[in-house]
Amino acid sequence: MYLGIDLGTSGVKALLVDDDQNIVASANASLTVDRPAPGWSEQDPADWIEATKQAVGSLKESHAKQLSATKGIGLSGQMHGATLLDTNADVIRPCMLWNDTRSHQEAAALDENPLFRKISGNIVFPGFTAPKIVWVKDNEPDAFARLSKVLLPKDYLRFWLTGEFVSEMSDASGTSWLDVENRCWSDDLLTASGLDESFMPGLVEGSATSGILRNDLASDWGMRNGVVVAGGAGDNAASAVGMGTVNAEDAFVSLGTSGVLFAATDAYRPKPESAVHTFCHALPGMWHQMGVILSATDALNWYAGLVGKDAADLTAGLGTDLKGPSGVIFLPYLSGERTPHNDAAIRGAFIGLDHDSDDLTLTRSVLEGVTFALRDNLAALESAGTRLTSITAVGGGSRSIYWLELIATVLGLQVKIPADGDFGAAFGATRLGMIAERNCDWQDICVPPATDTIIDPETALTAKFEEQWQRYRSIYSNIKGL
Ligand code: XUL
Repeated sequence: MYLGIDLGTSGVKALLVDDDQNIVASANASLTVDRPAPGWSEQDPADWIEATKQAVGSLKESHAKQLSATKGIGLSGQMHGATLLDTNADVIRPCMLWNDTRSHQEAAALDENPLFRKISGNIVFPGFTAPKIVWVKDNEPDAFARLSKVLLPKDYLRFWLTGEFVSEMSDASGTSWLDVENRCWSDDLLTASGLDESFMPGLVEGSATSGILRNDLASDWGMRNGVVVAGGAGDNAASAVGMGTVNAEDAFVSLGTSGVLFAATDAYRPKPESAVHTFCHALPGMWHQMGVILSATDALNWYAGLVGKDAADLTAGLGTDLKGPSGVIFLPYLSGERTPHNDAAIRGAFIGLDHDSDDLTLTRSVLEGVTFALRDNLAALESAGTRLTSITAVGGGSRSIYWLELIATVLGLQVKIPADGDFGAAFGATRLGMIAERNCDWQDICVPPATDTIIDPETALTAKFEEQWQRYRSIYSNIKGL
């Protein structure tokens, strides 16, 4: 048996698979996000531990025998958060999460130093870890004075599980401190943020062993001593491992709270000016590129909440026959945007409302706006030299066939729907635990799931959507700064 633990933003998921990768059981425990001020987004790391105890505890209640046979554990997690520890390894302040944008000025200032894009291969985005530390240094000097270690969320969980300070390449890529080409911390980037390597955990590949489960936890969970804990991955790379998106040109689109267009690459090909993220993959010798939009299903859920309806009912109301553009253009920048604009201040808009703009029209408009944002991401990936031929759809939004038809048509790509199953980040984490424990070839483990359905672009509508995308693109520069 192998256990995957995914520390998400809204909860912890624990997933148990057998030696043949069949899912045996899963359990969730929810988490909440504190927003003490506009743009702030925080969690108490103690809640991650409680939620993990609860999720694994539920597995113990329902599947004690199987859980006790665990040989390896893999971790996956929300990226970019800054967990600050003092010399006693006590948490100094709540963790500032990936969607906390309070440090956007600090991010812009670091990004002006050309070393950051050159060495980390990426823009210093407001949600990344380095600017958060600069914000703490400037705004909470007492907290900064106590700082001894900075850990990403799942690496704090690892510390609790194993007692080791270790991170891995994929998550470390989102700190702005990693030399992403050479897969090591950069002294120059740490110095430019007021730190040095002593503040950083050690680094392993995601599929390598990072530590051994503490004996007291092993005994609480009925496991033998010596359970291997793998490096694991940031949530997107972990999902990619779960989906078998591990070879060059393999790609997926994730329609979750945020939206991600993700491609695996076998070479380091940064293009920071396009606002594409170029990160190490969780597997040695591999990288990945992704465009990230901050509101995907979040935009649909916002609209559903506004009109007091259920998001699934709204999309079901559209049927499954793709229609041409709705005529109303929606910009999904409800909490700013990463790719391609890197703009924390921009906000969303509806353009072209009229008396006929009913629920159905605006639901189409919201789905179209998010899809045009993904089209922008495809253009950004292409400008970085990454060409896609098909994409696999994952995440809650992929349950809407109408939306997937829209994505296939607007992106001009075949969209594959995987056969039923759970191929998310927690499953990817179990695979990394398996590779680490067996010390085997990752290609043998990271196979893609069977495809259930392939959705082709609706070519009769391609030109109309292309025109509408061009209109959509022209709006950003016109509303910026209004
Ligand atoms: C990736 C990113 C998000 C978070 C969400 O850069 O910010 O995918 O990891 O969990």
